[in-house]
Amino acid sequence: MDMDLPRERFRIRALSRQDALQTLKHDVQDSMLCAPRSLPPKYFYDEAGSRLFDAICKTQHYYLTRTESALLERHADEIIAAVQPQACVELGAGTSVKTEILLSRLTAGSRSFTYAPIDVCEEMLIESAARLLHRYPGLQIEAVAGEYLSALQALPRLDGPVLFVFIGSSIGNFTETESKELLTGLSGIMNPGDALLLGLDRVKDRQVLEQAYDDAEGITAQFNLNVLQVLNTRLGGNFTLENFSHRAVYQEVLEQIEMYLVARDAQQVTLAEINETLNIQAGEAILTEISRKYTRDSIRRLLDGSALAEHMHFEPGDEYFSLVLANRR
Ligand code: TRP
Repeated sequence: MDMDLPRERFRIRALSRQDALQTLKHDVQDSMLCAPRSLPPKYFYDEAGSRLFDAICKTQHYYLTRTESALLERHADEIIAAVQPQACVELGAGTSVKTEILLSRLTAGSRSFTYAPIDVCEEMLIESAARLLHRYPGLQIEAVAGEYLSALQALPRLDGPVLFVFIGSSIGNFTETESKELLTGLSGIMNPGDALLLGLDRVKDRQVLEQAYDDAEGITAQFNLNVLQVLNTRLGGNFTLENFSHRAVYQEVLEQIEMYLVARDAQQVTLAEINETLNIQAGEAILTEISRKYTRDSIRRLLDGSALAEHMHFEPGDEYFSLVLANRR
């Protein structure tokens, strides 16, 4: 562990490697053995993948991060005044750079405050904690490495009100059913007075959307392909990354971006750890991610179906993105 971490202000809980590997094996067995093949998006985020995602956020075409950061800067004081949180729990914290806009205000004057970041990437949690603890002397960090719902169960008791933060349009990576399940689970652990800050991307021009998921520098392509490397490493696979190409399409009717890895040729791939061989056809597409895009109406329906009620809604003039502050209903 990083020597610079002040131990008395940092704790991390992690799901066992063994459990994580079992989950991966089951997920791959369920979704990769026959067409249409797909993979859950959480497997993107090993250390290399988390760094590539951070690089995507800085690209010209990925407007989401810039837009959401500007909204946070503009409305941080209102959000804090409305909730008056004593602690903040974040799902999919990554580098915590956007959340720092809130944390810097919440710890002003060395005021004590607890931040509980959840992420599947333990290395990223440790690296971000080192930066935050150094900058904010009042901050206490209770990190949990793992998947959202199990990590939420593993949280220590926190003094409220608690502000739950789920930004970056990550909710859009779940199907409608999954996202309602996740948000309902979240609202179930919220106490009265707690709030959820949710960041969602909005329906907009196809070209703007497709470019955001296929940047000119090719970083998104590398990020997408890296998931095959994750399978190679963790499941003894022999995917050749060059044999696949990245494709992002906006499905207007479903209001979602779909990201695929498309096989350039017919090929056979072995996953030694699960004793499986995949026969992949030329042109076959593996669905690696969806990213759903919302309207004001579909946001309201999502919250309604998840036992949550919209309290505040922030959007920029071009309506590119929504930051919603919600309470448990
Ligand atoms: N939550 C991000 C989004 O939906 C994740 C993401 C952005 C992503 N770009 C990606 C995932 C490219 C896979 C590939 O915008």
